[in-house]
Amino acid sequence: MWLLRPQTNRFRVAHDLSGVWAIRFDPDDVGRAAGWSAGVPDAAPIAVPGSWNDQLVGVRDELGPAWYELRFDAPPVDGFDLALRFGSVNYIAEVWLNGEPLGSHEGGHLPFAFPVPSLRDVGNALVVRVDGRLAADRVPPGLVPLEHRHPREFFPPAAFDFFPFAGIHRKVELVATPPGGIADVRVRTELDGGAAILHVEVAHGGGEVELALDGAHFEAPLRLERPRLWRPDDPHLAALAIQLRREGTTVDRYELSVGLRTIAVDGERLLLNGEPIELRGFGRHEDFPVLGRGASAAVAARDLHLMRDLGANSFRTAHYPHDEETLDLADRLGLLVIAETPAVALFFAPEGLERRQELSRSYVEELVARDRNRACVMAWSVANEPHAHDAAAGAALAELCDLARALDPTRPVTYASHETDDPGLSAVDFLCLNRYPAWYVLPGELELGMAALAADLDAVHARHRKPIVLTEFGADALPGAHADPPAMWSEEYQAELIGRVLDTAAERPFVVGAHVWTFADFATAQAEHRPHATNFKGVFTRDRRPKLAAHALRRRWRA
Ligand code: GCU
Repeated sequence: MWLLRPQTNRFRVAHDLSGVWAIRFDPDDVGRAAGWSAGVPDAAPIAVPGSWNDQLVGVRDELGPAWYELRFDAPPVDGFDLALRFGSVNYIAEVWLNGEPLGSHEGGHLPFAFPVPSLRDVGNALVVRVDGRLAADRVPPGLVPLEHRHPREFFPPAAFDFFPFAGIHRKVELVATPPGGIADVRVRTELDGGAAILHVEVAHGGGEVELALDGAHFEAPLRLERPRLWRPDDPHLAALAIQLRREGTTVDRYELSVGLRTIAVDGERLLLNGEPIELRGFGRHEDFPVLGRGASAAVAARDLHLMRDLGANSFRTAHYPHDEETLDLADRLGLLVIAETPAVALFFAPEGLERRQELSRSYVEELVARDRNRACVMAWSVANEPHAHDAAAGAALAELCDLARALDPTRPVTYASHETDDPGLSAVDFLCLNRYPAWYVLPGELELGMAALAADLDAVHARHRKPIVLTEFGADALPGAHADPPAMWSEEYQAELIGRVLDTAAERPFVVGAHVWTFADFATAQAEHRPHATNFKGVFTRDRRPKLAAHALRRRWRA
């Protein structure tokens, strides 16, 4: 079931069940038969949210199944509709409450919820079986045959370049809402000359809807003659209050921060509020020591404040939707977001294709439902680096783009491509290209690498005549490694390469954005080309200390 992001006020309550749960691994998959769904015997304490891999001892490479359990007493919720909402469980969650199955969900990084028929006063047993194992018919895929993935061997055998952390990665909330209350909200902004028009749609179970913006009541659509629009350099948010009344009594209320802005593609330009915009920023993973992929508002705040400090105005949520609190920060700090689904490393061989496509479609639906009201979200990316060789690739990618456009006509649709003549690129509104000149291509050759990049960009532009965002480029740099003249893996080489790519992009008006790969070093599976099982392309270290490239970017972007 879809459930609006939980919030607490006089009419509804979101009980955050974060804290110390218990976990037991089930390597022989005996838990189901042993009845662990009613309670998990001999379980060890574990913090939620958080991955188990870096948090516990001895389970770094464990991908499950594992059984979580939380015992809790009922808060005062008589007369409310109850639901349990999970912000993200990677990868498959099966949920029971007091031994009764509530449901299951496949795919991390996106919320899901189940109605709760009843609660015991004391001692409710919430049990979640989490399976993070890799498979070729899951998205993102693992255990993929060599011909359908990058030729780099990882352990665990992911087909993607980040560690397959597993666990309950975000908040779990017991949500109490008034029966027939506000079930969904959709806001949309239009610009009409100098005015802004705010459209508001509210789904509810009956009654009269009352709307107020910063306290002023209005009937939707609301026309604002001299609106203060949302922009990276002035991320103004207004408080939209929705009240549901029945027989003169307010029965429910929901608040939303609204940024009035529009985003569009116009020829070879990206327009924000009708004005050309140039994206400066990063691809960013959710990754931190001990937390693994577990949500932390503090880490997200650190990252986004640092991005603003460097002069960035945007980032891409690589390679999956990021936590809702991260997007709260982006709305408030004025960072535009390319919101990406978890469909990384897709391949289109017939084996498992329908299942992978079905999952990729559901990820688009769930991502748009979750983030469509956000001022910061400027585009939907339906995939990262699909291996688009097979005949089915073009149609499959076009289907995902068309689905995103149908669900949300107000934002451009794209995906990040690492290939030159990718058959799906005709379906996107603007191109996102991942390119590694002087790293994977012409390694060590900065001059030749940039010449090759220039020729490549001009060729792709000639073929597509759409705006191009360079969504990935960069170099690994071991923190503290120095070389003069610059040499690969040194901080000097990373800074020099990034600067030259930005110069090459700046010479081309059709390149409307550049996102450095990547913001901070992050954990990968083990591989011969990943020292310490780490991708060192961060301009910050994994604990967010700056490398030379961070200082160079601040000088360039703040100038
Ligand atoms: C790819 C991919 C990233 C990866 C990067 C790299 O482009 O999109 O997920 O981390 O290259 O190899 O560093």
